[in-house]
Amino acid sequence: MLEVEHLAVNYRGVTAVEDVSFRSLPGQMVGVIGPNGAGKSTMVKAILGLVPISSGVVKFRDRSLKQQLNSVAYVPQRSQIDWDYPITVWNVVMMARTVHTGWFREPSKPSQEIVKEALARVGMLELRSRQIGELSGGQQQRVFLARALAQQAELLFFDEPFVGIDQKTEAIMFDVFAELKLQGKILLVVTHDLGTALTKCDQLLLLNKQIIATGSLKEVMTADNIQRAYGDSVLLLNR
Ligand SMILES: Nc1ncnc2c1ncn2[C@@H]1O[C@H](COP(=O)(O)OP(=O)(O)O)[C@@H](O)[C@H]1O
Ligand SMILES: [Mg+2]
Repeated sequence: MLEVEHLAVNYRGVTAVEDVSFRSLPGQMVGVIGPNGAGKSTMVKAILGLVPISSGVVKFRDRSLKQQLNSVAYVPQRSQIDWDYPITVWNVVMMARTVHTGWFREPSKPSQEIVKEALARVGMLELRSRQIGELSGGQQQRVFLARALAQQAELLFFDEPFVGIDQKTEAIMFDVFAELKLQGKILLVVTHDLGTALTKCDQLLLLNKQIIATGSLKEVMTADNIQRAYGDSVLLLNR
């Protein structure tokens, strides 16, 4: 079980995330929704120990998650990845294995096999020698999905994975997520748009600095909760 308790983050004295608590069981997909600037990415980074927290505890299997980061895969938001960085598709996914083999050693045969399988799973094996910057948005997102798979993690975090992708990528992504759930993994998926992805989640967190609501789609997506999280802007969208 993943347990987040009273998590809070300040950036130079300004609160970005306040008193976030939730739990998630193996085989569950948690959807994190909320407007731009709600602190969704910050919450994920705080859980992973990538930004300093001002309070809170994050536990996985009753132990601090920080001590178990090799059980975690994280796909950052597109805007946080340097797409001009000269690296091939194959090597992006192989990076997931360097935690096991070390950077300067020749990747082991099993690692190569795992990378190959992960790329095949997302339909990117043929493009393995391409530079990452030469791919479409959907293809890039699939490469990072493959990297997460190759990590063989127990906890997987995806920050806005549906932004700028095509339908084929979306279908593959939903397929892989369903598979991971069946394998008993815990998935946490951030999305700012209130689309079909939400129907696949076992639990939703509606965030705007604090948790505005949590529970099932029906429990969370009430007019009142959405109004509280998104303010009046969402009313314009519904006209
Ligand atoms: N590194 C940072 N330094 C200072 N402020 C930040 C930093 N990253 C994010 N913020 C601020 O924290 C708030 C939450 O940002 P973020 O977590 O990116 O929201 P979301 O992912 O929901 O759009 C925003 O007001 C943002 O400007
Ligand atoms: Mg974000």
